Amino acid sequence: MAGKKTLNIGMVGYGFMGRTHSNAFLQAGRFFDLPYRPVLYAACARNAERLKAFAENWGYSSLETDWRRLVERKDIDLIDIASPNDTHAEIAIAAAHAGKMVMSEKPLGRDAEEAKAMTEAVEAAGVANMVWYNYRRVPAVMLLKQLIDEGHFGKIFHYRAKFLQDWTISQDLPQGGEGLWRLDAAVAGSGVTGDLLAHTIDTALWLNGPIREVAAMTETFIKERKHNLTGKVQPVGIDDASAFLCRFENGALATFEATRYARGHKALYTLEINGEHASAMWDLHDLHRIQYFDHRDEGRLRGWRSIHVTDGDHPYMSRWWVPGLQIGYEHTFIHQVADFLQALGEGKAAAPTFRDGLATDQVTDAVLKSARSRQWENVPFAQTGSAA
Ligand SMILES: NC(=O)c1ccc[n+]([C@@H]2O[C@H](COP(=O)([O-])OP(=O)(O)OC[C@H]3O[C@@H](n4cnc5c(N)ncnc54)[C@H](O)[C@@H]3O)[C@@H](O)[C@H]2O)c1
Repeated sequence: MAGKKTLNIGMVGYGFMGRTHSNAFLQAGRFFDLPYRPVLYAACARNAERLKAFAENWGYSSLETDWRRLVERKDIDLIDIASPNDTHAEIAIAAAHAGKMVMSEKPLGRDAEEAKAMTEAVEAAGVANMVWYNYRRVPAVMLLKQLIDEGHFGKIFHYRAKFLQDWTISQDLPQGGEGLWRLDAAVAGSGVTGDLLAHTIDTALWLNGPIREVAAMTETFIKERKHNLTGKVQPVGIDDASAFLCRFENGALATFEATRYARGHKALYTLEINGEHASAMWDLHDLHRIQYFDHRDEGRLRGWRSIHVTDGDHPYMSRWWVPGLQIGYEHTFIHQVADFLQALGEGKAAAPTFRDGLATDQVTDAVLKSARSRQWENVPFAQTGSAA
């Protein structure tokens, strides 16, 4: 990797995503031939002691406890936002104004208004940007994208997605603060709509194009929880479960569902596509496989194929071990860094850009609006749909 241009990373957040991103920046250049060498340069979070331990573990050479100082530093090239949703807009906009490249965790904003301001800021500054919708970079999901774009499915009639968890069922679980900010609407923006449905929507917009209109319902099963920061029992403002029907621009009908109340399911993201010629299913718990049915197969042999997406001609897999051997969750982030740096070297944007992240927030806003109005709602802004 000697001789490559270095890219000094300023990482905000040392939690779950701070770890996946740090690992991705470290590993990407070891497995992919990239024009830049990312350097874990400065880490930022408010708790100095824990930040120090994180920085030592991953090899960050300097620390900041205020993201504003990180953003102002002249020796940082890229700000990576791996902190809770209420921090994304302010940090991204300041970073863009300071001329830094920006990568942000999802959802891009707590709502589309925040996401729009973030998108306008990076576009006005002309800085490279990306949102960490990492599931696009599962090799099996990338293979689905290739098969759709090559016309294997023909016209797509149906898209079906679910993202199921079960970790907030207990009445005693508090809301707010460390580890539980996802239950605090002021921090998270929304509940499973912005957290889990956002992933399924990003993948769907990418695979199947823009969504035109939605009809949704949401539920908050537990209406009050103690707040960790105030110590008081307070109303719960997030949606615990969210489901919607929608119509895509290409005429496909779809259903989406997300919940944290599906006992037994930990992170069951599944999707299914039914087209004129073919159908396919994918399941995050068995992330290397797609189930694929092609009606054009010879009748006597027609049936569902279980394709283990680990061969050298499958997306990304030639960079890993040998055919048949698996990779995992963390590799989706490594692929995202690799694609970002490759595109940067070619002077191109790598998807999902902030504009793509805005498109997802526009759909989640419409979902929440429809749940309130009990009416079909149009997705208000023109969506882009991305090429890469
Ligand atoms: N792409 C994915 O699959 C995926 C998965 C999990 C989380 N996320 C997203 O990543 C983001 C972070 O989630 P997480 O699970 O890593 O959270 P986490 O609670 O594990 O970590 C959050 C980190 O942000 C830090 N932080 C909070 N406020 C800060 C501030 N004002 N300044 C600096 N640091 C601050 C905390 O100290 C902590 O280190 C969220 O936006 C979440 O939606 C995405």
